[in-house]
Amino acid sequence: MVSRTLLVPQGEFELSRIPDVELLQAWDAADEFILNHIDDIQVLSRHRKLLILNDAFGALSVALANYPVYAWSDSFLAQRALRANLVANGYPVEQVKTNVDIGFPTAAVDLVVIKIPKTLALLEHQLYALRPILHHDSKIFAAGMARHIHSSTLELFETILGPTTTTRARKKSRLIMVERDHLLNEGQSRFPDYYELEVDRNYRIANHASLFSRDRLDQGSRLLIEHMPIAEAYRRIVDLGCGNGVIGMIAASLNPRAELLFCDESHMAIASARENFAAAFGSSREAEFRVDDCLQGVADASQDLVLLNPPFHQQHNIGDMIAWQMFRDARRVLVDGGELQIVGNRHLAYHAKLKKLFGNCETVASNNKFVILRSIKNPVNNHRL
Ligand SMILES: C[S@@+](CC[C@H](N)C(=O)[O-])C[C@H]1O[C@@H](n2cnc3c(N)ncnc32)[C@H](O)[C@@H]1O
Repeated sequence: MVSRTLLVPQGEFELSRIPDVELLQAWDAADEFILNHIDDIQVLSRHRKLLILNDAFGALSVALANYPVYAWSDSFLAQRALRANLVANGYPVEQVKTNVDIGFPTAAVDLVVIKIPKTLALLEHQLYALRPILHHDSKIFAAGMARHIHSSTLELFETILGPTTTTRARKKSRLIMVERDHLLNEGQSRFPDYYELEVDRNYRIANHASLFSRDRLDQGSRLLIEHMPIAEAYRRIVDLGCGNGVIGMIAASLNPRAELLFCDESHMAIASARENFAAAFGSSREAEFRVDDCLQGVADASQDLVLLNPPFHQQHNIGDMIAWQMFRDARRVLVDGGELQIVGNRHLAYHAKLKKLFGNCETVASNNKFVILRSIKNPVNNHRL
């Protein structure tokens, strides 16, 4: 069993992950490094505004919750974990302010704490977004596990914010200290960026900074699009884990009478999907866009078809827990006779999971890397839920 109690100079905190994975802790050595350093240099006061970026499960924000903290995250799951951990440690959920979409805070901040995100592009975007809200005395610290900090990471800090130094590794984590150079040329984030996609017609696909397969269509998604199911019976189609929404957009185009629902736990994914759908269909088509954990807020037995290219990472960790939750949710929201169609890497062995859950699973198509699988919700198997 891993520890659930974080012991740092700020106090003792009970912390869990979402989803809760028995062998994984809700914080890492980089969080401890930051909290110890902040205590050493005594930079906090109740009047100094703190911005925390990419806090994984709320460890930093909960430990610093007695100060005015704004926690910005692209991940709805991270935000849910933060809320749960605030409550578990006796704070109201409003104790820490959080973003509701991709918008960045606009008021000046005194201290910025950055956990290095998995996507370097997200860090780049965040550093540009920070520039206008830093003042001459603002302090900036970042930290991450040493294996996630490369020379390209440090270069980003240097070129966008100013002189950057790092500490030696402690428990395999490193601290980065940055000074804002106010004489650096102004510049701005290059995100969202765009690529062109030719399917039944030409689409211009916007991608905000944190997106999966940001510069081209993923090969698995391409296979799914090439075998897009088309039927009159599909009136409600879900693009689950929609990313930039390409799968749902092509489904909408080839099933012109269907209503589309786009779901993702990333605020930037939903912003990209919304922008791409509007660019493709204008006001001629309406769709729903949900930032959610899998399909939590979606009614049972309400959808005809769920399309999915499942994630195999949560932050820096690999696992299939989220994919498994997505399969279960898909089954719950499908009407009887409704279909789940997924694409996955051949080695991920989703076939056995779907067979177990739905009682059936057929291969629709495959190539040397990916396979498309289809399961149908059959009332006979309702006991399997
Ligand atoms: C492999 S990507 C597929 C993206 C897009 N459908 C495509 O094909 O390009 C998986 C997506 O699942 C999203 N995701 C991860 N965990 C999720 C969760 N718990 N609930 C909803 N979406 C999630 C990720 O943000 C990511 O956009």
